[in-house]
Amino acid sequence: MKKVNIGIIGLGTIGSGVYKILKERKAEIKKLYNVDINILKCCDISESTKRKLKIANSKFTKDFKKITRDKDIHTVIELIGGTSIAYKVLKDAILNGKNLITANKALLAERGKDINSLLNKSGKRIAYEASVGGGIPVIGVIEDSILINKIFSFQGIMNGTCNYILSSMSKKIEFKDALNAARRAGFAEANSTLDINGKDTAHKVVVLSKKCFGIDLKSKDIFTQGIDNITSNDLDCARNLGYKIKLLGIGRIFKNKIDARVHPALIRQDNPLANVDNEFNAILINSKNLGPFMSYGYGAGMLPTASAVISDIIRISRDGYKSDVHEGKKLAIFKIDDLERKFYLRIELEDKSGNLGKITNILGKHKISIDKIIQNNENNKTKSVPVIILTKKNRFKIVNKALSALKKLKFVANNPLLIPIEDFIWKK
Ligand code: HSE
Repeated sequence: MKKVNIGIIGLGTIGSGVYKILKERKAEIKKLYNVDINILKCCDISESTKRKLKIANSKFTKDFKKITRDKDIHTVIELIGGTSIAYKVLKDAILNGKNLITANKALLAERGKDINSLLNKSGKRIAYEASVGGGIPVIGVIEDSILINKIFSFQGIMNGTCNYILSSMSKKIEFKDALNAARRAGFAEANSTLDINGKDTAHKVVVLSKKCFGIDLKSKDIFTQGIDNITSNDLDCARNLGYKIKLLGIGRIFKNKIDARVHPALIRQDNPLANVDNEFNAILINSKNLGPFMSYGYGAGMLPTASAVISDIIRISRDGYKSDVHEGKKLAIFKIDDLERKFYLRIELEDKSGNLGKITNILGKHKISIDKIIQNNENNKTKSVPVIILTKKNRFKIVNKALSALKKLKFVANNPLLIPIEDFIWKK
């Protein structure tokens, strides 16, 4: 029987979930997996969860070093989030010879290299299934199940909050109300700006790029656009055209460069990602031999995310478990300017004859062909009218340049939207 003594640092949503499941299922885990998991200590700055979970005083501390420096603890579970104190926790834990489990995508994305070089010296292990896709198996699948398959690309809906907001807006629920519901349900970040502006997804793209391709990226290498400029009208128009709008995290090796980006995109309704709604996440991985494979489920929330942490505790304790603490490769970055796609362009114009002609004229001057054009007055409460243009394939750089010219026109409102139409990647 393997004995694993753990310390949990951070008793927020996920930490409480881990505590609860382990309390209830300890005997079962022992029987099923031959691992005896003992929670030796929990740490939090507040005592409220300690009281709620009835944690004994002797098993609670407000000082993380009482866990990271406790000789009897083998594995430290960091669940506080953020990048400053969390880094201190992880560093202290590594320097004191502990294995690590974390759900902290921001920390892995911002300080992954530093953590890896510390781990390389200590020879200890790290597991981080909960950092991408919450409870759904992604990291473990890449590590254990598609071993011989070279990964070409991943495309995913990796932020439950944004997906919940977009799904709610398509049911005419206001952005703010949907965000508040996501906060109450416990899947929004403490700072929900990170969800909305796409940064949370960008952190996950960094983590997955390392895992899928062995490439070290920084968040700043990733073109990142959030969902704050998407309106219910965009969702309606997209639906009428046979598409859904989803915030995608994308990574692929293209022309020997790494193309990594986060942005809302139009995807066809027959794309498997199009039916991933509400707080659900899904990650579609495309690899040699297997072709496309999709992991789908709850990407956030207490018990789903806690279940990924607990699987990590069991996995990391197994003989032969290997974490990827090697240095990552470098690859040139594919620039968004070079992305060739069809685009969805929404501009709001003063509703006056001749204005639309001036718009199409500017697009023509930039050699942008129009596939479809719709003027949508429905549900419109302002004086201006939204015009939706689907372009034919062109480079982002060109379409964006045309957009800058359009923005200069007096009758164009200053909130245009330009997003690519992404195809379902299917390659064997
Ligand atoms: N805030 C994140 C989300 C939590 O909404 O998906 C899981 O990483």
